[in-house]
Amino acid sequence: MSGKKATLTIGDKSLDLPVLSGTMGPDVIDVKDVLSNGYFTYDPGFMATSACESKITFIDGDKGILLHGGYPIEQLAEKSDYLETCYLLLNGELPNAAQKEDFVGRVMNHTMVHEQLQFFYRGFRRDAHPMAVMCGVVGALSAFYHDNLDINDAEHRRIAAIRLIAKMPTMAAMSYKYSAGQPFMYPRNDLGYAENFLHMMFATPCADYKVNPIVAKAMDRIFVLHADHEQNASTSTVRLTGSTGANPYACIAAGIAALWGPSHGGANEAVLKMLDEIGDVSKLDDFIERVKDKNDSTKLMGFGHRVYKNFDPRAKVMKQTCDEVLTALGIHDPQLELAMKLEEIALSDEYFVSRKLYPNVDFYSGIILKAIGIPTSMFTVIFALGRTPGWIAHWLEMHSAPYKISRPRQLYTGPVQRDFVPMDKR
Ligand code: ACO
Repeated sequence: MSGKKATLTIGDKSLDLPVLSGTMGPDVIDVKDVLSNGYFTYDPGFMATSACESKITFIDGDKGILLHGGYPIEQLAEKSDYLETCYLLLNGELPNAAQKEDFVGRVMNHTMVHEQLQFFYRGFRRDAHPMAVMCGVVGALSAFYHDNLDINDAEHRRIAAIRLIAKMPTMAAMSYKYSAGQPFMYPRNDLGYAENFLHMMFATPCADYKVNPIVAKAMDRIFVLHADHEQNASTSTVRLTGSTGANPYACIAAGIAALWGPSHGGANEAVLKMLDEIGDVSKLDDFIERVKDKNDSTKLMGFGHRVYKNFDPRAKVMKQTCDEVLTALGIHDPQLELAMKLEEIALSDEYFVSRKLYPNVDFYSGIILKAIGIPTSMFTVIFALGRTPGWIAHWLEMHSAPYKISRPRQLYTGPVQRDFVPMDKR
């Protein structure tokens, strides 16, 4: 509590509402009391609503700040690695050496999926979108871990968290192998997390795949950059689903479904499709005109963000990583030039400047993923894999304290009560 209060006046009635202060960020008006006074609050799209209290991640959208457990994303991307970031999200602190070794060992111990799970893949058409497959198979994990999972038991919850972080790369790589018509590759627990994922993606039983350390490092950094982003659409979905007491694997499947949309995680795939469609630099001006035309639904994918209104700090690191990876691999990608030119035009155009639209994390990630050899349809799966510790950390946080089922209300604008009209009178 901040000691401050907000006063809401409706007609001749005044209502004092407590104002809450966090450790950082704007104060929050606690509007719970409006209900007992006969009102709901109205905020479509939750533009101004804090749906929960959280200690995991802080974002200042105006200043372009993203902190996990207080640590800036730029420092984590440069000095930490993905599993350490996972530990931080789950535990609120960086691990010491022994804690890290134990955590990495526990995660790598759980990488295999039940042999039966492969038959779920075989139920899909080979050309099924991997995100559709992921919604199905991750949800299906709940069938393997349900009756013996007590979500009220902290240790059970922690095991579910470890299993999800461990098995996501295996399930993601299987969704690719199935679409490519190649045999599934078992995980190799002697490899690092990102290395093992690349092994399961690109090795085959007849040809070993030597993981390029530059590629493994870039993959790990992409995972770090996606690890968490407080109450975004997919994380809020996981929390909302979890608030009913649902199985955690089903909750994460719900998060995957929410992430898939092009306004959220599906944007990385949409960016490459957009660059493909534009084709070359000579078409950029036409494209920008279409984006600005209110009668045209074309959007500049990878641009804009609900929270970042200055720059997305992840996009800065992503762009730098993109340059490093392409240089190190000796790849000259005309799409990178096209993306950079597009960014340059957009950043100096009044339409984008006045609406505070800047490149987001998805603008450059696709170009790196393409350089690594990841097919476009897998881009959002990579995002889902990277975001899993964030989803599960929020699910754990919610379950570690008393919580209520999430149940928003509405402003009803439909017909008032009326009597049923028999068919012959309609
Ligand atoms: N291209 C063109 N115009 C845009 C774009 C864009 N990418 N993004 C927003 N605008 C315009 C809107 O048309 C609107 O214009 P108006 O005021 O004239 O009506 C204005 O900017 C405000 O946009 P909103 O849609 O109200 O902003 P909101 O916060 O609701 O949406 C969103 C944010 C969904 C990310 C949006 O910017 C967008 O669709 N971007 C493209 C998709 C994308 O890259 N998504 C990834 C987001 S990051 C992530 O999930 C990891």
